[in-house]
Amino acid sequence: QQARPVSRGAFIVVEGLDRAGKTTQVKRLCDSLYAQGHNVKMIRFPDRTTPVGKMIDGYLQSKAQLDDHSIHLLFSANRWEKAAWIKGQISQGYTIICDRYYYSGMVYSAAKQNPALSLGWARSPDVGLPRPDRMIFLDLDAKEAEARGGYGEEKYEKRSMQERVRELFLGLLLKGEEESTDMVVVDAGQSVEHVAHAIWKETSGVVQSVESGSRKQIGT
Ligand code: TMP
Repeated sequence: QQARPVSRGAFIVVEGLDRAGKTTQVKRLCDSLYAQGHNVKMIRFPDRTTPVGKMIDGYLQSKAQLDDHSIHLLFSANRWEKAAWIKGQISQGYTIICDRYYYSGMVYSAAKQNPALSLGWARSPDVGLPRPDRMIFLDLDAKEAEARGGYGEEKYEKRSMQERVRELFLGLLLKGEEESTDMVVVDAGQSVEHVAHAIWKETSGVVQSVESGSRKQIGT
């Protein structure tokens, strides 16, 4: 189908625990939007292909040790590397579907329970990044996530960490700030089809209204 001229593209973020099915669902959402004639691009964080991303990859694979603050700032820098690209694509009419963003940044770092690294501190280096039009949190019990083939070898793929991550994600709903108003929870414990349908219900209208110009310019 031919893409239509649009006011700007939308910026949609999909978040969730490791094994929540984000990658599958991000791909399905892109395919569905594309099939309906939208210009759409996918992006993921961490982007392990950049120099900063390579440092993050080394840390996640336990090949490099880094202070909790340092790795946090690298994850943030990895998003800033792409901020101008995101804004540029959106202004050219591309809808961006993003696999993880600053919400993961905040909650994974805060879940380490380092008393010197609060949720508030963790949010600050990302202040000013393009703000999503919608964030979908794929909610899944940590036990169920683990049962889906087990966690891998990476740094945070441990049940206790994932349980804290989930609690912190759900806690964002109570924060009463933009993190909560942008966020919608989708039960990721259902079939792939059901989850895809639920995500579509929560995003297609947003994409339509952004593209038709009835929503503001991209915020920060
Ligand atoms: P991935 O499995 O989606 O590539 O993500 C790698 C890990 O990095 C995952 O456990 C979540 C974590 N993470 C952070 O700790 N901070 C961040 O800012 C991001 C984007 C991911």
